[in-house]
Amino acid sequence: MNYIALYRKYRPQTFDDVIGQEHIISTLRNQILHNKVSHAYLFTGTRGTGKTSTAKIFARAVNCADAQSHNGNPCGNCFVCNQGANNIDITEMDAASNNGVDYARDIREKVQYPPVNGRYKVYIIDEVHMLSQGAFNALLKTLEEPPEHALFILCTTEVHKIPATILSRCMRFDFRLVPTDVLAKHIASIYDQEGKSYTAEAVNAIAQAGEGSVRDAVSIADRCFAIEGDRLTYDDVMAVLGVSSKNSITALAKAVLNNDAPSILTETDKLVKQGKDIARLAKDLSLYFKDLLTVKLCPTAKQMLVLPDEIFAGLKDIANQTTTQKLLYAIDVLVGCDTTLRYALSPLMLFESALLKISSSSGEVDAEGLDRRLYRLEQQPQNMSTDTQKLFIVDKTSAESIWRGVKIQLEEKNNPLLVGVWRDVTVAINGNEFVVSCTRGAYALLTCNFGKGQINYKRELESAIGKFWDKTITFVLAEDPNDSTLDDQLKALGNIRFGSTDDK
Ligand SMILES: Nc1ncnc2c1ncn2[C@@H]1O[C@H](COP(=O)(O)OP(=O)(O)OP(=O)(O)O)[C@@H](O)[C@H]1O
Ligand SMILES: [Mg+2]
Ligand SMILES: [Zn+2]
Repeated sequence: MNYIALYRKYRPQTFDDVIGQEHIISTLRNQILHNKVSHAYLFTGTRGTGKTSTAKIFARAVNCADAQSHNGNPCGNCFVCNQGANNIDITEMDAASNNGVDYARDIREKVQYPPVNGRYKVYIIDEVHMLSQGAFNALLKTLEEPPEHALFILCTTEVHKIPATILSRCMRFDFRLVPTDVLAKHIASIYDQEGKSYTAEAVNAIAQAGEGSVRDAVSIADRCFAIEGDRLTYDDVMAVLGVSSKNSITALAKAVLNNDAPSILTETDKLVKQGKDIARLAKDLSLYFKDLLTVKLCPTAKQMLVLPDEIFAGLKDIANQTTTQKLLYAIDVLVGCDTTLRYALSPLMLFESALLKISSSSGEVDAEGLDRRLYRLEQQPQNMSTDTQKLFIVDKTSAESIWRGVKIQLEEKNNPLLVGVWRDVTVAINGNEFVVSCTRGAYALLTCNFGKGQINYKRELESAIGKFWDKTITFVLAEDPNDSTLDDQLKALGNIRFGSTDDK
């Protein structure tokens, strides 16, 4: 008998089988139960989270004769449900292989004929972002005036590649990453059905490695399935995943916490040579520090992390030798580094210097770091105590303090372009005026309109300053009599005015 991969064997057949997407499933169910099905849907979200599976279930459910008495699910017994893949009212196409305009025109013609057995003629267009421009145009015409019986379900991981005209005609559903505990339960239930025994730690490690994707988690479960022994253990899973990298992360974390610069560099080098991506590494390491923090702060850490005893003991050991501040600081730096890594010329250098920075610091943060953290907390009011709220104070009479508040707000947006502004701008309070003096470079940056005027840093700065200053805000060009070189370039950019400005 042929072996069927677990992820195919366990493709959900009804809405009840789909895990972790309750927000979507309940809406779709209700639409079926109340006969309120639309003509076009867009299913988007990370890979392996159930888009295609849900599209197939929905396509069957809308045509099922008895979905009403099965809570919106396809009943599995009627004529339509029994047709399976031969259902001529459902067309599944993969835009990756049929991306041409002819195909879309063909759909446009055929969709006019009414369905044969059910109420809807359904088109599932998978990987829809692969359609050519011409095909999108043809599809758009159909979506503009769909026949009463037409139902389109478009699926994609890359929603940003879909033209806005198409998006605006679809009901959009965003499939979420599935939480680790939900994944772990799912894997456990598959192993139960397959008669495979396992430890809780093993299943949890598989779920964690799936990183929110059900398909990935189930595939890993499949790879672990073949391992001999009565019971699948944590070590077995680690062996399948490649323990070496797990051990090296521990070694690297230790080196950082022990302020051991040579080991930091050699361990990083080792990981990079194993082919580990730097951004990935930064993320893994920050997760590791987060686990340490959990061990340090939560009495229930053992239940939360679901790790084997000796691994947990190892974590506890490392956690005991460091401080909460240091761990918080490490996470803070690594998370900040994660976003800048994408734009960095040398990610490796940035990563290494971040590690050295963490290792040489006691973790006692400077005022700015503290403000930044408090600001983040403030952004999540549900998490914040009133004591913490009181701490986030900007002195509204001090230009420096206001500027710090502004920086914190804008750094949250993580825009690398703004880095230049911090360096090239000075601020002062002059009576009723908050004065921002800019070098020419900074001034040009601030007054340019990026993305057809959608981004204008001057406006962003004004609104950020406005949170603390309700009087006049003035931008001036800091005069440098020796420098006239930039004039022409700046004028060429257009949209720039010189001198003291107030161009509201
Ligand atoms: N939410 C889910 N509930 C249960 N199983 C799921 C879920 N999502 C994915 N799976 C499993 O993963 C397999 C692939 O899922 P599916 O094809 O629906 O994902 P997808 O979101 O369309 O992925 P892709 O973006 O790669 O096309 C399914 O056969 C099933 O085993
Ligand atoms: Mg899919
Ligand atoms: Zn049915």
